Amino acid sequence: MTATTPMHDAQKIPTAHPQLDGVWSTRCAVDLNHRVWWSDDVLAPGNAAFAAALAQVHGNCVAFIDSEVAQSWPVLARQLMGAFAALQPSASSPNPSAPCLAHVEIIPGGEKCKEGFTWAQRVAKICFDHGVSRHGAVIAIGGGAALDAVGFGAAIAHRGVRIIRVPTTTLAQDDSAMGVKCGVNMFEQKNALGCFAAPWAVLCDGKFLTTLPIQHWLGGFSEVVKIALLKDAPLFEQLENCATSIVSRDMKIAAPILRRSAWLHREHILRGGDPFEIGDARPLDHGHWSAHRLETLSHFAVPHGQAVSIGIALDAFLAVEMSLLKAEVATRIIQLLRSLQLPVWHELLESGQELFAGLEQFRQHIGGHFAISLLTDIGASQEVTRISAEDFRNAVTTLRANAS
Ligand SMILES: NC(=O)c1ccc[n+]([C@@H]2O[C@H](COP(=O)([O-])OP(=O)(O)OC[C@H]3O[C@@H](n4cnc5c(N)ncnc54)[C@H](O)[C@@H]3O)[C@@H](O)[C@H]2O)c1
Ligand SMILES: [Zn+2]
Repeated sequence: MTATTPMHDAQKIPTAHPQLDGVWSTRCAVDLNHRVWWSDDVLAPGNAAFAAALAQVHGNCVAFIDSEVAQSWPVLARQLMGAFAALQPSASSPNPSAPCLAHVEIIPGGEKCKEGFTWAQRVAKICFDHGVSRHGAVIAIGGGAALDAVGFGAAIAHRGVRIIRVPTTTLAQDDSAMGVKCGVNMFEQKNALGCFAAPWAVLCDGKFLTTLPIQHWLGGFSEVVKIALLKDAPLFEQLENCATSIVSRDMKIAAPILRRSAWLHREHILRGGDPFEIGDARPLDHGHWSAHRLETLSHFAVPHGQAVSIGIALDAFLAVEMSLLKAEVATRIIQLLRSLQLPVWHELLESGQELFAGLEQFRQHIGGHFAISLLTDIGASQEVTRISAEDFRNAVTTLRANAS
């Protein structure tokens, strides 16, 4: 007779779980509510858009203001404090879970704040210093550069503190604030470091545009021309008809044009099927491969908007060179850019190989496969997977002849 030894519990063979075998593959959709408000005087106490944007925000918040904006609007920090105070049910019995503004800081405006990690890191540090959690929010008030740098700092603090964007330039309102990207410049390359981080809320207020220097006011319209060329021929005609009013800063004419551009950018990003840019096609980067290179090569003396204008002009003549676009359409594009007082030429275009290297950087930036959108008509484009050095040289030569 054999004696059986009772098995210790830990030695029991575990029950089989078939789902543990093989590849684990589960699709998980992220519920993202991308909200944009267009409101006048967005920081006035009791502003409905401001209150709605902060409705589910709790605890400490911090704000960063672009230095040029702070200079043009000296009472802004105080206004912001007033806007937060108005969120409290009453001054005598504050609600501890209501959002509270713990700190306001000025950061350098323009590309200065995107120079390396410094300012993004500062934003993250301030979140820690002032106890901003993922239930709180970072508010960024400024141009596209400030939104990018502050957004990146917020995105890496606690793996993502909510960012509320208050864009103050034409370009930030008609394009950049609508996107889901942020980042800083590094390794002599635009936006080399950054991430995808959708804004918690975007609050657009036309009032800010009144203090924008003319160069930056006009620069933002290059992105309107770009999106019109890619997607909206009637918008292109509207720009042709309204160029004089835009140049003279007629807000009644300009505001709906800026808003249409913002809508088209936003629609493409949110409904175009690739918000986080996993695929190769990147139509919104039309004109940008050379624009980013021009910005870097000029040490940012050429602002983004103006660089994009030159990039659009160059891409138009590249499309002509590659028999995709009629020469008269390219000429019409140049005429519009000029009537908007935007540049179509820069001597750095003659740097040849140095500028052409921008294409290789762009290819790496978009993930290794080259794809660039070139126009086939106004409102229509096509993906191109190769541009030869000869096409590039010829396009530069034709552009130079048309630009003078
Ligand atoms: N994240 C994205 O999806 C995205 C998209 C497009 C562009 N961008 C980035 O946006 C940046 C360009 O943005 P931009 O054209 O707004 O330029 P910007 O942020 O450099 O601002 C231009 C200048 O205007 C000043 N300024 C801003 N608002 C002002 C106001 N109301 N009154 C007075 N001065 C004011 C700024 O301090 C700066 O000196 C670039 O870095 C570009 O790469 C990002
Ligand atoms: Zn751009």
